[in-house]
Amino acid sequence: MLDIKVTKTTAPKPKPDQDHLGFGSFYTDHMFLMDYDEGQGWHSARIEPYHPLQLDPAAMVLHYAQESFEGMKAYRTAEGQVQLFRPEKNGERLQSTHQRLCIPAIPVEDFVQAVKALVDVDRDWVPSAPGTSLYLRPFTIATEAQLGVKVSSSYQFLVIASPSGAYYAEGLDPVKIYVEDEYVRAAPGGTGAIKCGGNYAASLAGQQKAHQMGYSQVLWLDGIHRKYVEEVGSMNCFFKIDGVVRTAPCAGTVLPGITRMSCIELLRDWGYTVDCDTRLSIQEVMEAAHSGKLEEVFGTGTAAVVSPVGKLYYEGDEVTVGDGGIGPVTQRLYDTLTGIQWGALPDEKGWIVPV
Ligand code: COI
Repeated sequence: MLDIKVTKTTAPKPKPDQDHLGFGSFYTDHMFLMDYDEGQGWHSARIEPYHPLQLDPAAMVLHYAQESFEGMKAYRTAEGQVQLFRPEKNGERLQSTHQRLCIPAIPVEDFVQAVKALVDVDRDWVPSAPGTSLYLRPFTIATEAQLGVKVSSSYQFLVIASPSGAYYAEGLDPVKIYVEDEYVRAAPGGTGAIKCGGNYAASLAGQQKAHQMGYSQVLWLDGIHRKYVEEVGSMNCFFKIDGVVRTAPCAGTVLPGITRMSCIELLRDWGYTVDCDTRLSIQEVMEAAHSGKLEEVFGTGTAAVVSPVGKLYYEGDEVTVGDGGIGPVTQRLYDTLTGIQWGALPDEKGWIVPV
């Protein structure tokens, strides 16, 4: 249990217009911080007014990217309550990221306590307009000033919060996806299965190329054969082919998404066959599209929620998914998940944690 010292701001900021939040552009009045020093462990948990960081220019995070992050949201229900969705799963995933990057572990209970404490202090910042939430960004950075490549001896863990609307400008309109066959996001033994900034830096060239070609996101293929579908930059990806729902196995190169695992559970409850163990080749996807068997494609993620995919482009061939609109399974998943998250549907699975 953390002993969190709270210093409140004396100059609260005006709140942004809830109808024009966009994603990740506004920040609340406060932030959570906690330091780690070798020999001392994690210490000095505190909430302070939101402020820029002071870092030594030699801080290791700036050079060698020893960094982890998470993405989660606080939702306001129609009754005005504020709640989180499976926050312990983010805490567990942060631990696996820390382990891979040699960053000292933060106990899951401390992680959840830190997030809850910040949301509580900035409770008024949780927006209430439909589809909006308080996006939370916990992250850890290596702070030791040292240009030799080694494991840092000091870190800072922070949580910042951003009132946000939909991640994609398209909202629930289907997105167009470019299947990347030149650049690679992840390879076995690498960092594809954890949440670290470097994965996203490496994805930018592909994303820029997709944008230039008129597509909003990239679907990454496996790094060895460039054959099997893996994930979209900011979400996991599902394909409904001839009645069966398929998604890439989380076998080392795909991020184990919390929305992904929740969707798999819901789909199985509803009686769908979900295959998340067998790799799916892009050829199978394109053939299914051509033979009319590619019924639905959607992405899942905390920021993106459940986002329909309307078109896929691969090696000169653009196919339309289903009739190009949002499919019934995608819509049902979106309605159910958001219903649970915003409190309009009962939380039968115990996924909700009130703040
Ligand atoms: C999230 O869905 O929360 C993510 O972290 C994806 C992102 C890079 C916006």
